[in-house]
Amino acid sequence: MDFKIKFNQYNKDDSMMYGNMLLTGNGYFGIRGTFEEYTKEMYGAINMSGIYDRSEPDAWRESVNAPNCIYVKLEADKETYSLPDTLPSNHYHELDFKYGIFTRKTVWKTNKGTITLESERFASMHDKHLVCVKYTVFSDYDCKIKLTSGINTDIWNINGNHFAKVEKTSDNGYINCICTTIEKNIELSLQEYDAINTNCKKSIINDENGIFNVFEINAKKDEKYVLEKITKISSSVDKKASVTDLKKTNYENLKKLHISEWDKIWDISFVEIKGDKEAEKALNFCIYELNAIAPRHTDAGSIPARGLSAQVYKGAIFWDTEMFMFDYFLHTDVSVARTLINYRIKTMGGAMIKAKEYGYEGAFYAWESQEDGIDACSEFNIIDPVSGRPLKTHFRDKQIHISADIIYALKRYVEYTKDYSILDEGGKEMVIQCALFYRSAIVKRLNSNFYELHNCIGPDEYHECINNNAYTNKMAKMVFDYAYELTKNDDTEHALMFKDCADKLYIPSPRKEDDVIEQFDGYFKMENCSVEDLKKREYTKGEYWGGAYGIATQTQILKQADVATMLCMFKDEYSNKILKANFDYYEKRTQHGSSLSACMYSLLGCYLGNAESAYPLFMTSALADLKEERSQWSGKVFIGGTHPASAGGAWMCAILGFAGLGIKDGKITLNPCLPESFEEMNFKIVYNGKKHNIKVTRTKCFVD
Ligand code: BGC
Repeated sequence: MDFKIKFNQYNKDDSMMYGNMLLTGNGYFGIRGTFEEYTKEMYGAINMSGIYDRSEPDAWRESVNAPNCIYVKLEADKETYSLPDTLPSNHYHELDFKYGIFTRKTVWKTNKGTITLESERFASMHDKHLVCVKYTVFSDYDCKIKLTSGINTDIWNINGNHFAKVEKTSDNGYINCICTTIEKNIELSLQEYDAINTNCKKSIINDENGIFNVFEINAKKDEKYVLEKITKISSSVDKKASVTDLKKTNYENLKKLHISEWDKIWDISFVEIKGDKEAEKALNFCIYELNAIAPRHTDAGSIPARGLSAQVYKGAIFWDTEMFMFDYFLHTDVSVARTLINYRIKTMGGAMIKAKEYGYEGAFYAWESQEDGIDACSEFNIIDPVSGRPLKTHFRDKQIHISADIIYALKRYVEYTKDYSILDEGGKEMVIQCALFYRSAIVKRLNSNFYELHNCIGPDEYHECINNNAYTNKMAKMVFDYAYELTKNDDTEHALMFKDCADKLYIPSPRKEDDVIEQFDGYFKMENCSVEDLKKREYTKGEYWGGAYGIATQTQILKQADVATMLCMFKDEYSNKILKANFDYYEKRTQHGSSLSACMYSLLGCYLGNAESAYPLFMTSALADLKEERSQWSGKVFIGGTHPASAGGAWMCAILGFAGLGIKDGKITLNPCLPESFEEMNFKIVYNGKKHNIKVTRTKCFVD
């Protein structure tokens, strides 16, 4: 398979797209796919995992970007050659996503000939602290080349500067920079060592933009000057320190070690799709994306909704991780799955604070979770297109399904791995606290026997403050059932309480006449119109359709899969007829305004045996970050970045959907539903601690 994404020319306007699509990362940080000479105006960033800061009291708290240590400025005979200001005569760049290696070649015409720059870089998978850049320059005439290479501290931030103090020093050939965050005094340290393959004049600049090595080279015609620029990033909150000695290593050695780590990942992860090269490439790109942001540097960490591509959505962790990305890791690298759950166990304190804040008991997890589980979700997320005023949304206080999403992942983890130790190490307590939360959220009408959940938001965020959302209620019941299961032998008081809730919680049933499950109370009475109808009512293009005055609010149009997501999670409890009726009813009423939507309908399509409907939805998900059609800005708020939930969702469609992978009575089962273009699928999973090769053809399935 061709693992490369190539661009044969430079287009300044595509900079944002390159930044997202060509991201390299190792879970500890993500490096946007931008060029070495780019400054903050071109949205370059090295986005850190798990480090957050608030720049000033009213600003949004967000993940921290490290100083830019891929920075190099090129001058020849006192002229600067840099994108986007000096347009090249020739340009090529690519991402090799087999190994997360970003490469470029840029040629500039000068009045004496040409200057060529070639570079390559990666975020080391071997030592997660290292950024490795190899920068080569040559000219076809003798000239004076000057390279300014170092740590640029004047960086892009969405919500203000995050460093109270920046200390820059140089010693023994290293340049160093220690930045201290404003809020928690976290120290983020960078140590860079630059090695150049020529004797040249060297000096250091230490100014308000950073600290840099300057190399002045008397360049000879066609001679290649190679700068190896290795930087170690570490922080005062790291669990493990790096042991690499920058002076004792070099770029090629580090590259070998890096490649061998990616080889191990691909050995278990690669999915071969014979007959459909486009699908195969798109899906494996999704797998690359997930691995480039997987928290393998810690035993309790998670993945933000926009990965490590920027400070979008404050670098926060949403339900995206547990409900969309989790399955890939569960089946291929269970240690990452455990790390993701450990993060939720570790942040349960934040969830308990949030529950109290809203008058509940137990653990109400953050809709937008940062390092200690305190909810970073802002209350005014939308701008009214008519008045320009901020509008209140209820994502933070009413999207109560979040706690159940986390328990769903934990339960799947325990069932799949049989690693019961997680329950003793906080997992069981998390289930109990989430069950107590839902119990305290229950309402009961005087004249009914049912328990209900009112005033919520389901996955479809366009309808706020609704009662008895089918997804939320069904997920909450799962929490009660599981809590009962875990407590019935040693905690009868809690167990009885949870059983009562599980038995009496109202779960909407399919309508008699057409088998459709009502998304929430009163949904069927809302205006029945089409997505196209609604588009015509927009006051400004791309305005938000939900919230107080949103155009979808009074209609049956939904933002994203809601009942469909519930049916995917509990498919065995519903007949094929019901799955089909709900797919047909809801899919055409869905705007797919979230990148989390298409994959769930695709999966549902597979479960009901309709591969042809599932296929285009799968491709939409798999291509989410290869086709940058999504808008990057919502008003003044940057909403770009990558879509790892869509990537994880695409993996679910391919493996759980098309290949129909399942586990029954401790055995791997396959129930394929291959689209016409797929001749055969080959992939691996780890189950019961053993690697299994799986082959699915149009007529047969094999597991070894
Ligand atoms: C979606 C949420 C999702 C969030 C982060 C929103 O647009 O509606 O379901 O969790 O984006 O990806």
